[in-house]
Amino acid sequence: MPESIREEYIRKNPRSAELYPRFREVFPSGGAGHDGYVAEPFPIAIARGQGSRKWDVDGNEYVDYGLGSASLLLGHSHPAVTEALQRALPNGSHYGAPVEAMLEWGEKVHNLIPCADKVRFVGSGAESTMLAMRVARAFTGKEKIIRWESHYHGWHDYVMPGNLAPFDVPASTGIPQGAVDSVIVLPPDLDALEQTLANNNDIAGVITEGSGASYGTVPLAPGFLDGVRRLTRQYGVVMILDEVITGFRWSPGGLQQRLGIDPDLCTLAKILTGGLPGGAVAGRADIMQVMEQTGDSDHDRFQRVLHGGTFNANPYCAATGNAALEVVATGEMQNTADRMAERLRAGLREIMSRYEVAATVYGEASTFHVYFGGTTIEGLDANTLKSAPPAIQSAFRQALQVRGVDLMSRTSGVLSGVHTEADIDQSLEAADGAIRAMIDEGLLRHG
Ligand SMILES: Cc1ncc(COP(=O)(O)O)c(C=O)c1O
Repeated sequence: MPESIREEYIRKNPRSAELYPRFREVFPSGGAGHDGYVAEPFPIAIARGQGSRKWDVDGNEYVDYGLGSASLLLGHSHPAVTEALQRALPNGSHYGAPVEAMLEWGEKVHNLIPCADKVRFVGSGAESTMLAMRVARAFTGKEKIIRWESHYHGWHDYVMPGNLAPFDVPASTGIPQGAVDSVIVLPPDLDALEQTLANNNDIAGVITEGSGASYGTVPLAPGFLDGVRRLTRQYGVVMILDEVITGFRWSPGGLQQRLGIDPDLCTLAKILTGGLPGGAVAGRADIMQVMEQTGDSDHDRFQRVLHGGTFNANPYCAATGNAALEVVATGEMQNTADRMAERLRAGLREIMSRYEVAATVYGEASTFHVYFGGTTIEGLDANTLKSAPPAIQSAFRQALQVRGVDLMSRTSGVLSGVHTEADIDQSLEAADGAIRAMIDEGLLRHG
C-alpha cells in the first residue's frame, strides 16, 4: 500500500508530533493563541521564516502562502523591517508618551490611504473594527451596525453575529444578547440593504470586508461597494470599509484606492505594522472628531468616544510600521505579488483541468482560493462556497505541506512581493502531486 497523505504528514513531522501533547496540556484544544492554529492530527510547529519561505521544527522547508495571516506583504524578516526593529530595540519599548516615529507612521498612513484625514492606532485588527463601530455609533447617535453574512472582522462580541452559518446564531457562545441585538446581518444584496435602511431609523453604519468574505473567498458582485457607498450616503449612515486584509495589499492606498471607493472610515492592521501587532482606524475628520478631547469637562465626560490601549503605536511597532510602509508606498511589492498570484492561479487552473477535477481556482490581487465543489463559483453564496467537504479541504493543505508548500487556510493563500517564479514553479509541481495523491486516495474524482 502506498503511504497516505496523513501517514506522510506524520512521518515528516516527528518533532511537531512530540510537542503537540505539551501544547494540549497548556492551551485549550492546543491552539496557543488562535483557533486557526489547530489542525489534525497535530499542527506543524514553525521555527523560522525568511522571504517567501519558512522552516518547521523538523527542518522541513515551505514556500509560504500564509505569511503571518496575510500580514507579510514584504515576506518574512524583510531587512528594512528587521533593521528598523534592531535600531529601535535598545531604546526601550514604551514611554507612555508620543514618539516621533509614531507621528511619521501616522503621516504615512494619512498620505497613502485616501480616506485617512485622521488616524488612530489600536492594538489589532479586531480592535480596529471594534473602535470603528463605536465611532460610527457615537457620530450618528444611533445603535445598529449592518454587516454582511460571513464577512470576518475579528473575534469581538459585535462581529460574532453573522460570521458563521447559520447566520442567525452568533459564531461563538458567550455573546451577550445586547451585542446580538445591536447588529443586523444581511446577505450581500443591495436591495436588502436599501430596504433595511429605508425601514429602520436606528442604523449607525455598514461594515464591509472590501474583498468579500474571508479575503475574497466569497467575492462581492461587481459594483456592490459602489452601491453600499451610494446607499449609506443617501441614508446618512457611516460606511466602514474593513481593509485589514486589503489595506496596502490591493494597492499602496488599499482597495479604496484600487477601486476608487470613498469610505467614511476604514480599518487597517496586518501590513500596517510590517507584521507586528497593531492596527488603526482612519477616516473623515468630522467623524473622527468624536474622539477629540476639548478640555471642557462636560464634553469630555459625556460627549466623546473614550479609547485607550497600553501598546497602541508602541515604539517598536511604530519603527517596523514606518519601515514597512516606506517599502509598500512604491507599489513594487503589490505589482510583483499580483503578477505571481496570477501565474499561480493560472497554473492551478491548468492542473485542475488536466486532471478533470471539479474545482474552481479564483482570487483578486495577490490572493488565491480553490473551491472543491464544482467548476464555477457563479451565483454561489457564502454558505456553499465555505462548505466544500472538510476532508477534501484538509487533505489538500496536508498534501501540499508534505510537498513543501503551506497555505493560509485549508484552500486559500496570499502572496508577497518577494515570491519568485521559482517559488511558483515549485508550488505548481507540489500542487500537481497533491491532486494526484488526492485522486489516488479516492478523495477527488478524475473526470
Ligand atoms: C478583514 C479582517 N478584519 C479584521 C480582522 C481581525 O484582525 P486581527 O486578527 O488583527 O484582530 C481580520 C483578521 O484576519 C480580517 O481578515
